[in-house]
Amino acid sequence: MCGIIGYWNLKKEAFPILLESLKKLEYRGYDSFGFATLSNTQLFVEKQVGKVSSAKCQELPGKVGIAHTRWATHGKVTEKNTHPHTDCSGKIAVVHNGVIENFQELKINLSKKNYEFLSETDTEILPYLIEENLKQGTFRDAVIKTGSILKGRNSFVVLNSETKEMIAFRNGSPLIVGVAKENTTSEVFIASDIQAFLDKTKKVMYLDDNQIAIIKENPEFYDVKTKKKIEKRLIEIALDAEEAEKGDYAHYMLKEIMEQKETLIRAINQDDKDLMHVAQEINNAKGVFFIGCGTAARVCHTAEYIFSKVADKHVNFIPASEFENYKHFLLPETLVIAVSQSGETADVLDALKIAKQKGSRIISIVNAPESSVDKISDYAFLINAGPEKAVASTKATTSQIAVILLLAYACAGKLREGNRLLVDVAGEVNDMLNPRYDEHVKKLAEKIYQKENIFIIGRGLNYPMALESAIKIMEVSYIHAQGFAGGELKHGPIALIEKATPVIALVANDEVKNEIISNAIGVKSRGAYIIGVAPENNQVFDYWIKTPDVEEVASSIVNLIPMQLLAYHLGILKDHDVDYPRSLAKSVTVK
Ligand code: F6R
Repeated sequence: MCGIIGYWNLKKEAFPILLESLKKLEYRGYDSFGFATLSNTQLFVEKQVGKVSSAKCQELPGKVGIAHTRWATHGKVTEKNTHPHTDCSGKIAVVHNGVIENFQELKINLSKKNYEFLSETDTEILPYLIEENLKQGTFRDAVIKTGSILKGRNSFVVLNSETKEMIAFRNGSPLIVGVAKENTTSEVFIASDIQAFLDKTKKVMYLDDNQIAIIKENPEFYDVKTKKKIEKRLIEIALDAEEAEKGDYAHYMLKEIMEQKETLIRAINQDDKDLMHVAQEINNAKGVFFIGCGTAARVCHTAEYIFSKVADKHVNFIPASEFENYKHFLLPETLVIAVSQSGETADVLDALKIAKQKGSRIISIVNAPESSVDKISDYAFLINAGPEKAVASTKATTSQIAVILLLAYACAGKLREGNRLLVDVAGEVNDMLNPRYDEHVKKLAEKIYQKENIFIIGRGLNYPMALESAIKIMEVSYIHAQGFAGGELKHGPIALIEKATPVIALVANDEVKNEIISNAIGVKSRGAYIIGVAPENNQVFDYWIKTPDVEEVASSIVNLIPMQLLAYHLGILKDHDVDYPRSLAKSVTVK
């Protein structure tokens, strides 16, 4: 959700580096983008509406600069609302990620001081506040004072052409400093994600909440509250820049779906001792809450069924954005388990803050190492799926389910059995992801891509997977898709079924198999076109997508694979940018 990059060096022109880095951050927001560079004591600014990857930009001079790719929160997608925003004198430029919750009040105060606003954004108050605060102190003091009065989760980077300084402030969204040193040359980066500069350096320092970083040859860090200097060590990270590239694939989404051939095995490669330890905590806890947002929330919902079936254990699922309503149930003996790909989702972090305040233990299942969720957790299971760039989550989802399955089996004292099952499932997924299977799913997409509505039904743990399939289809194809518990259709939604309405039934070889088939028969009698995603064919199916006959609890993983492929092909047939669907962003760092 908004990507920030800052670059400092003494030898190279900054613009081409900023441009390349910004393209790597495009998944965070792609409404509009802009740059500010510093040459001598002059700021140069360029802004455009649209995607940075497809734009033609005029090169700006200077060896130091900042850039931003926007996901609009306050104000429409216009050039005026695009970052960087500058102060009245044009000496200060700011790029920002977050939402300033008290911006209206701050804006009124600035208006009283005759500041005129050119944009509809909350960000525009930042350069004006810094300009105002500069009247009473140094640039560093002005940045700290400005950042400290902001409410909400906010991070920003400021460039000052007069003092020739760049300062980053963090209280919310991630900012990471990267340092590349070669002989006597230093290059310093500050970015929302390591991916922005991973091809240049793997040596990083993490900026934490309520800290600032002064971006220069040897970056300096200060605590915002005490104003004391903080010593940080350069950490070498073990990420591969190529892993985050599309390679021969046309889209990240397809690449990431295909990567599930390996990611499941990587996910289950957890330390048995840690799994057993957390399982024991789950068994002893006074209340277990799985929390997440969007697709991760559907994974948490599946966890309810998985724990019930595998470990005979009741766990609760709450969408992270609703978690506050349940805070009365939190005790120090309560376990809150956060599921998040990015580890930066604002609603998840806010929920975890509540859990911390209540003294509850926090466990997480997360993809991004060193992310805010990883850091706030008492214990984090990293799923090791590698960078997930497509906005629609695929490989992270199945890996999260795999770790939850392991935990459930560990709770039941059957970890080895769980491991064996998942190794088999990983093999089955590997076999499924072949060109013939993909072609078969694509043919289905060709049959239904012009439909206005698609319904997906499932029972048991395939009910949350029906909900997840609907998310996937909606976000990349923009076709209205809705998931239902099989038994619920007849309580109202069946009125929407017309002749040839596609209804997809997610079926497992389980005790509710006959019921879901009955539900399919029920809608077929109203004219629905029935697509069965199932281990066995059935005469009710008009189109059958075979899935491996794995144990019921693992059917959530294998049934998702064709649904991810279907969403992808529907999006392609609709001629959409499947990696960057409209109005969405990969990491939702605002509430
Ligand atoms: C949908 C999707 C989103 C995310 C949600 C949470 O495909 O990706 O619904 O699942 O925004 O994101 P994370 O997992 O990063 O917390």
